[in-house]
Amino acid sequence: MNSDSAEMPELTRAAFGPDFIWGTSTAAYQIEGAFACDDKGPSIWDEFTQNSRKIKQGHHAQDACEFYHRYQDDLALMRELRIPNFRMSLSWPRLIPQGIGAPNPKGIDFYNRLIDHCLELGITPWVTLYHWDLPAALEKRGGWTNRDVVGWFREYAHLCASKFGDRVKNWMVLNEPMVFVGAGYSLGVHAPGRWGLRNFLSATHHATLCQAEGGRVLRSEIPDAQIGTTFSCSHLTPYRQLTRDKKAVKRVDALLNRLFLEPALGLGYPTRDLPYLKKLEKYYQPGDEDLLPFDFDFIGVQNYTREVVKYSLLTPILQAMLVSAPKRKVPHTLMKWEVYPESIYHMLRQYSQYPQIKKLIVTENGAAFPDQVVDGKVHDPDRVAYLQSYLQQVLRAKHEGAKVEGYFVWSFLDNFEWAEGYDPRFGLVYVDYETQKRIVKSSGRWYRDMLAEQ
Ligand code: NOJ
Repeated sequence: MNSDSAEMPELTRAAFGPDFIWGTSTAAYQIEGAFACDDKGPSIWDEFTQNSRKIKQGHHAQDACEFYHRYQDDLALMRELRIPNFRMSLSWPRLIPQGIGAPNPKGIDFYNRLIDHCLELGITPWVTLYHWDLPAALEKRGGWTNRDVVGWFREYAHLCASKFGDRVKNWMVLNEPMVFVGAGYSLGVHAPGRWGLRNFLSATHHATLCQAEGGRVLRSEIPDAQIGTTFSCSHLTPYRQLTRDKKAVKRVDALLNRLFLEPALGLGYPTRDLPYLKKLEKYYQPGDEDLLPFDFDFIGVQNYTREVVKYSLLTPILQAMLVSAPKRKVPHTLMKWEVYPESIYHMLRQYSQYPQIKKLIVTENGAAFPDQVVDGKVHDPDRVAYLQSYLQQVLRAKHEGAKVEGYFVWSFLDNFEWAEGYDPRFGLVYVDYETQKRIVKSSGRWYRDMLAEQ
């Protein structure tokens, strides 16, 4: 234990104050299954899992956790665990199968039932508009690289707000734009599997416009809503105490932690630290500067690890590379992400420095470990230790004045971890995918007990 943690307040629910928001997070594609049920249209992830061969073990999410059919039992379990807030996402192709045009009444009905059931159980829904499952029909027209996506997204946001805004008061526009744009349109490792600088830059600009536009639609339709958007982020440290590694840290920070945040705050893209981002201007239309910002009520922070950055000549634009946790021989999770609780502390502090940010909510934090069922039980002390150590750092940041007002564990259930398939299990609840049986892990019981304290 370092000297900082020795002075830290004890980790209890009460230490975070009575208004702190506690919950768990999920996303439609990762849990719902029912990929072609009730007139749902295909998403880019349905197609990518079928065609790309880029998913470990050829896994797909046609059934996933069957949440679409089992949501009542799953919400009952959530209530048993005393989890008061549930972050979920809406599937765009379930609601509008072709992405634009006729909505799907059965899709609307599903989310109405789900939302109503949450409210009946006293669970508050926190809804993300876009968690990566773009309708495949829109990708055929260029997806995020087509400027028209702004109008498509506006129409979709409008539908969601008008159908669910009477009961849903907590909204997030996008989930981790850096990941869906970077992995999906630049590296080709996520759906839709495209790569290259041009795709990356156009998708970046259009996603940034949609981020603000979605906020505007929600605000005008649901004036009493709390509106946020969520960002992946990692505290960055130089590999060596060399000026060139420290400069590399700045460039990576601009890309990974600030690219989508700063334009939303009215600061423009972080071109000073990463000059090649000036190429984004190629995709501007007159007046775009005014359309990039939106006055979000909160910013969702999603943190799992830190990254260690080394100067590299091999990557011309960034002149930086990330040195992996296994290479550094430090403790890491099944995702090969270093266990580094101070990362969340530093990110909460870093983001709190922006005067434009009113509040931060940790909308995801969690860990994948190799869980095993033994005598019908799942004992996961590593996950408990991970969550405790990160929460301790959230508390530390809060005590030092960070604007953090909530925390959601990723995830409620084990689920489909994108290109990694089903092997990395992040849940507080274990899912046996053969039988769809749920087993509450010891981490789930730990969370319940913490939430139960007064
Ligand atoms: C980021 C994403 O929002 C979520 O979909 C993913 O499963 C977790 N973090 C873990 O990688």
